[in-house]
Amino acid sequence: MQSLNTTAPSRPTASPSPARVHIKTHGCQMNEYDSARMLDLLRETRNAELVDSPEQADILVLNTCSIREKAQEKIFHQLGRWRPLKAARPEMKIAVGGCVASQEGAAICQRAPFVDVVFGPQTLHKLPELLDAAENGGAIVDVSFPEIEKFDHLPQPTASSCQAWLTVMEGCSKYCSFCVVPYTRGAEVNRPFDDVLAEAAHLAGQGVREINLLGQNVNAWRGLSHAGESIDLAMLIRYVASIDGIERIRFTTSHPSEFNDNLVAVYRDTPELAGHLHLPVQSGSDRVLAAMQRGYTALEYKSLVRRIVAARPGISLSSDFIVGYPGETQSDFEDTMNLVMEIGFDTSFSFLFSPRPGTPAAQLRDPTPEREKKHRLAILQAQLTSQARAISESMLGSQCRILVTGESRKSSSDLQGRSENNRVVNFPLDSPSRKDELIGSFVTVEITDALPNSLLGRLA
Ligand code: SAM
Ligand code: F3S
Repeated sequence: MQSLNTTAPSRPTASPSPARVHIKTHGCQMNEYDSARMLDLLRETRNAELVDSPEQADILVLNTCSIREKAQEKIFHQLGRWRPLKAARPEMKIAVGGCVASQEGAAICQRAPFVDVVFGPQTLHKLPELLDAAENGGAIVDVSFPEIEKFDHLPQPTASSCQAWLTVMEGCSKYCSFCVVPYTRGAEVNRPFDDVLAEAAHLAGQGVREINLLGQNVNAWRGLSHAGESIDLAMLIRYVASIDGIERIRFTTSHPSEFNDNLVAVYRDTPELAGHLHLPVQSGSDRVLAAMQRGYTALEYKSLVRRIVAARPGISLSSDFIVGYPGETQSDFEDTMNLVMEIGFDTSFSFLFSPRPGTPAAQLRDPTPEREKKHRLAILQAQLTSQARAISESMLGSQCRILVTGESRKSSSDLQGRSENNRVVNFPLDSPSRKDELIGSFVTVEITDALPNSLLGRLA
């Protein structure tokens, strides 16, 4: 097995015969973004074309997630499915990237010796070079953390729809006691202000109307203006909002402790900023929040929410929750339930605590039976679902501004869009000839039906 740890990859020139690439992505939006950038890179260097089925591919890429144990186990199941393909066509290359790759490194090749390349989230810009090196036989592993260099070596992104992700920072330095991200993605590194703005303008030029600024701790982003002054996320949002064509901005995921007054103020005066905020609280119990090292109390979280709601009345709020953190009592769990009802969270994510190797929380003793934790999770999820349903039902009859993203999944004579509060809205086309005109633009629909996972509407 070879280990590559170069810093500046030499970019191979595009080969004339296209490489067929299949990419399977697990995990968060940052992984979605990274997969799109891998494809851009392989397009540039190998004339790559994306194929839907792994059977047709010359290069198989698995972009992995290690946030919870289940996510991690998925990768070996997936590799098991790809193994016979590689046995039938040994010239096919299999590359494993993402957070499991970063954490496990060469151990992946020991468990799955048919893997050719293992690369981390910070070395994805070297993928073509690593694939070249793998041509000589033997697995190639590079999961180093060469700072922000990767962005200097990636081509400008190709937009695939009117919505786009834009990573503004890599890694996380918060070290919440349960979380593996600081170890797999490294410490926070900000992308420079100019680079972020140039990428946003480039995307707008390709027809992107909605940009989601990404980072694991995105509101800790800082840059430098041309005058050398420090710029925060709030100021960055104002600049992105001023780009022609950008009509909606989101950012995710923000941390409550990094939410400054400037960011609250952008909700007051920047209409391009969507009226929806994902602000993970994790728990409603101060005892559990302290153990998680989140750096705020439930009261501080509520007071922040109060200020945000005052700045943008009607804003939709969602969160992540961890149930069954080691030592969580019934009373701690009730604190979480009370907070959920008090804030009135919209569609949110909730997880059972999963001990992650190398994190402080993985060492903790935990007397609560698994059955009890699952019971709590079911109660929380039922409450969150019922709140989200009530919000959908409250939208019936309202006029809703949506960005039309494409055809509806169920019928090509219907179109689909996204509301500000992040709901999928399907609506029938009034005339088939308007399809191209509507996709990629904002329209107003009247909401006529609220289904469990989407809304129906008609053009207003
Ligand atoms: N940066 C974000 C934040 O401020 O919370 C979220 C990062 S993480 C990729 C997404 C979510 O996964 C977290 O908000 C948390 O709820 C969940 N998560 C992280 N580690 C976990 C663990 N060990 N067990 C269960 N859920 C976990
Ligand atoms: Fe993880 Fe906490 Fe950062 S949840 S990604 S360490 S903010």
